[in-house]
Amino acid sequence: LTSLKIKLQNGLRQFPDFPTPGILFEDIMPLFSSHELHTDLIRVLELKVAEVFGTKLGEKSDVDVVVGLESRGFLFGPTLALRLGAGFVPLRKKGKLPGPCETEAFEKEYGADHFQLQSDAMKKGQKVVVVDDIIATGGSAAAAGRLVRKLGGDLLGYVFMMELDFLKGRDKLDAPVHTLFSGQEESLKKET
Ligand code: PRP
Ligand code: MG
Repeated sequence: LTSLKIKLQNGLRQFPDFPTPGILFEDIMPLFSSHELHTDLIRVLELKVAEVFGTKLGEKSDVDVVVGLESRGFLFGPTLALRLGAGFVPLRKKGKLPGPCETEAFEKEYGADHFQLQSDAMKKGQKVVVVDDIIATGGSAAAAGRLVRKLGGDLLGYVFMMELDFLKGRDKLDAPVHTLFSGQEESLKKET
């Protein structure tokens, strides 16, 4: 598993000064454009969830719902949900989802935004795992957790591909946080 993780981490690319000067951007797209890396990524993620949340692969999942954060959480959240035998629920930026929604504001380094979940997206007590590509300041993930709990979901925890641990985003989260690997210190200014 460790060698697979190293292989995945080597597949990431860094772009300096994107999208604005001073930002070192972590590009995760090579993990999807390669069939081999994509396959490895989903495998590592499903093993991680199985390990930390006690899910037995191939049997009825202990996870009822995977919530993915728009938009990079949509790249692997649905696939992971299928593999876990769970449902997938998209958490979107405000104004994109129809019908009654719950809304939470969140802060990012470059301004504020709102996330929404459809009010009927999950049943009370369902076991929920929130997934996203990267946790930076933790603002997005914290808002996601608040929304899951507003809907009555049982938030088991979070799974991220990468954590910029020096930004201490996990301190904003009050459920277990699991990550595959850590970002470089040089990408100090939050990446977007
Ligand atoms: C990035 C990243 C995470 C979030 C992390 O998404 O994909 O979702 O920022 O930042 P935080 O921990 O400081 O909240 P972004 O909103 O830039 O857009 P995208 O996923 O739609 O590309
Ligand atoms: Mg994102």
